[in-house]
Amino acid sequence: MTPLDDAIGSTANALGAIDVSDPQIYQDDAWYPLFARLRREDPVHYCPESRYGPYWSVTRYKDIMAVEVNHQVYSSSNELGGIQIEDQPKSMDRPSFIRMDPPRHDEQRMVVSPVVAPANLQNMEGVIRERTIKVLEDLPRGETFDWVDRVSIELTTMMLATLFDYPWDDRRQLTYWSDVVIANVNSPDAPVHSEEERFAELTKMAQALGVLYQQRGQMPPRFDLLSMLAHGEATKNMPFREFMGTLGLLIVGGNDTTRNTMTGAIMALNEFPGEYQKLRDDPSLIPSMVSEVIRYVTPVIHMRRTAKEDTELAGKQIKKGDKVVIWYVSGNRDPDAIEDPDRLIIDRARPRQHLSFGFGIHRCVGNRLAELQLRILWEELLPRYPVIEAMGPARRVYSNFIHGIRSLPVRIPA
Ligand code: HEM
Repeated sequence: MTPLDDAIGSTANALGAIDVSDPQIYQDDAWYPLFARLRREDPVHYCPESRYGPYWSVTRYKDIMAVEVNHQVYSSSNELGGIQIEDQPKSMDRPSFIRMDPPRHDEQRMVVSPVVAPANLQNMEGVIRERTIKVLEDLPRGETFDWVDRVSIELTTMMLATLFDYPWDDRRQLTYWSDVVIANVNSPDAPVHSEEERFAELTKMAQALGVLYQQRGQMPPRFDLLSMLAHGEATKNMPFREFMGTLGLLIVGGNDTTRNTMTGAIMALNEFPGEYQKLRDDPSLIPSMVSEVIRYVTPVIHMRRTAKEDTELAGKQIKKGDKVVIWYVSGNRDPDAIEDPDRLIIDRARPRQHLSFGFGIHRCVGNRLAELQLRILWEELLPRYPVIEAMGPARRVYSNFIHGIRSLPVRIPA
């Protein structure tokens, strides 16, 4: 019996042994039964021993919401450990506003929020559409190619270059840094293989972008992220480490998550051909399909908080200092909150009612931008290529944090 079989097994003892932090279960796409069991039998579950130390798992939709809205008790603070189950080594930590509590969180978030304000999104729509069309027109027909590289990475990298107003021809550099930020250094195909190597690469990133940040600070304010950071009261004199962390946050935020949803949509619609047909028959379903795919894919697997005081959650006693992990992948498959959650249903009544963007004060800044990019992709894709065939299994990323897809072979019928 493998440890996984054992964990799924039904004895009371095995329940205590469930450890959902193992990145392998996400790479193998084997996490569903573990969380189904936890939601049913032990929804706020204590794991006394893992490679990341002891931690609580919060697995039901309503309990995840309860943690998200109670930032007074459940802290995101870098000093207490930040937002991932794995602590960043103290000597190499990189704070950013996702790893802060109010008031500093709110001050810094406010600086960058205008980049995704409705008026700015409207301004960006034309350029996003133009670039999307170009990428789609260049795709080969009648031959197998990698959707991740040709479409998902290309489109999200273009978006990043636009958000940062980064030199266009060097834009894949941003993709590389994003991969470095989220890499699990123990994975053989990771771009870096130790925390030291990661830190060295991110130092180079902050130096390169630091030059642009300083230049933008001397120019009149503009609508790109570097200019906003350079002019914002709360962000114009950032310590180097914090600058590094903030860039990492904005690069990953605007990149990997949307990238993996672009790929996940092709996989999900191939998995549910009836829903794919429904979409072709009625393209006005694109916006609700986009939200449903974001739920179904759940691009961020978890967030972590640290209890600032003793508290109670769903009958469990949580102690000050405990690590509390909210598993979005599980909350989004909770049948008490979402009907028939293991099925993709593109015309759900309330498709935006999911946890993929989080909730509360840290709710994703870029959620409307991500939806916009995905909507445009499908508006341009459907009339050109009504069928994109998934030709083989996806290669998934070894990570318990970003639900990533490294490659997906696809074919557009000739
Ligand atoms: C499908 C795409 C995306 C998903 C699933 C996603 C998911 C998330 C999640 C789960 C959080 C944390 C929420 C919480 O703790 O409650 C978050 C925060 C954040 N996201 Fe996104 N995101 C996406 C796209 C984007 C884009 C396009 C941007 C950038 C423009 C972005 C920027 C951010 C930032 C800056 C934060 C930190 C917010 C804060 O701490 O106040 N995200 N995102």
